[in-house]
Amino acid sequence: MAPEALSPRPEPLPARRFSPHPFPVFAIAPRPRYRRPHVTESDYELVQVASGAWSVRARIEGETFHPVIGPQAEAEALYVRQMQIAARAAAAKREFVVWDVGLGAAANVLTVLRSLTEVPARVRIESFDHTAAPLKFALTHASELGYVVGFEEPIRNLLAHGETRFQHGACEISWRFHEADFPTWLASPETTSVPGPDAILFDAFSPARNPAMWTLGIFRGLRRRVPQDAGGTLATYSRSTLLRVTLLLAGFHVGAGEATGEKEETTFAAADPSLVTRPLDATWLGRAFRSTSAEPLHDPVYRQCPLSEESRKALESHPQFHPVPA
Ligand SMILES: C[S@@+](CC[C@H](N)C(=O)[O-])C[C@H]1O[C@@H](n2cnc3c(N)ncnc32)[C@H](O)[C@@H]1O
Repeated sequence: MAPEALSPRPEPLPARRFSPHPFPVFAIAPRPRYRRPHVTESDYELVQVASGAWSVRARIEGETFHPVIGPQAEAEALYVRQMQIAARAAAAKREFVVWDVGLGAAANVLTVLRSLTEVPARVRIESFDHTAAPLKFALTHASELGYVVGFEEPIRNLLAHGETRFQHGACEISWRFHEADFPTWLASPETTSVPGPDAILFDAFSPARNPAMWTLGIFRGLRRRVPQDAGGTLATYSRSTLLRVTLLLAGFHVGAGEATGEKEETTFAAADPSLVTRPLDATWLGRAFRSTSAEPLHDPVYRQCPLSEESRKALESHPQFHPVPA
């Protein structure tokens, strides 16, 4: 039984990517307006994580991009292997589309690209971030970070032009960078000019630090771009009840995701239930009902609270918990 089921205490905040926050988590803050961050390369630093690998740390948020096992190992476990990107890209009879939400220092996307070296496919990467500063930082520290080496020229082109095309081994890559506030972009008509995702690498800072990226509205917006029969999948490092409820209420089917070394479980979601190999079940649902931190964020303000009556009802009637007999 999970500790959550035994303990009346609030579910702990997702442990990764942030150090203890300086404000009380139950505080009701005024709804913040989006402000484009004024960050530069000096707001990032290299840190050596437990595995010995180098990762990037954002000084302002106090979060390490890929703690414990490091950037490449985490991206391989969470996205490359779990989402079977190489096999799916090879099998696609069209351009395979990856949405890289939270480009940051590009560890996720470059690890995915490296896995495609011998794959004869056409792959389109749509990367999103509201700042290019961590990518510039990564370019300056290519040799320490390792995963950047060999991709310096495409990164320079991406930074200079917002898009680039290149041949990577057998794979033809088109890579675009949307330097924008992702929630604003996703709600804008511009989103329909971008092909819907086959794979979403969802890597924002933690909900406590970056609540605007974890609202129900964000995941509903993503779900709208993943048609039921198109095979799109989403993976993310968090396994929190709050995140999983949010994905379910957004219309995804949701399952336990692969371990990353840092966490024994992550989260995997798809519109098509047959793609979710370890779906959350009635036991998980029971825990969610008892959880003190399960209600999705409806606004970009972090708070923890149990499910509302409306969310409970919506979860109970989710098709994931009512499988239609074959
Ligand atoms: C954990 S880091 C991503 C690490 C990255 N995936 C990598 O592999 O290096 C989270 C990223 O989300 C970006 N971000 C945070 N809020 C955002 C927003 N509102 N719109 C777009 N990007 C945002 C941050 O600038 C940061 O680069």
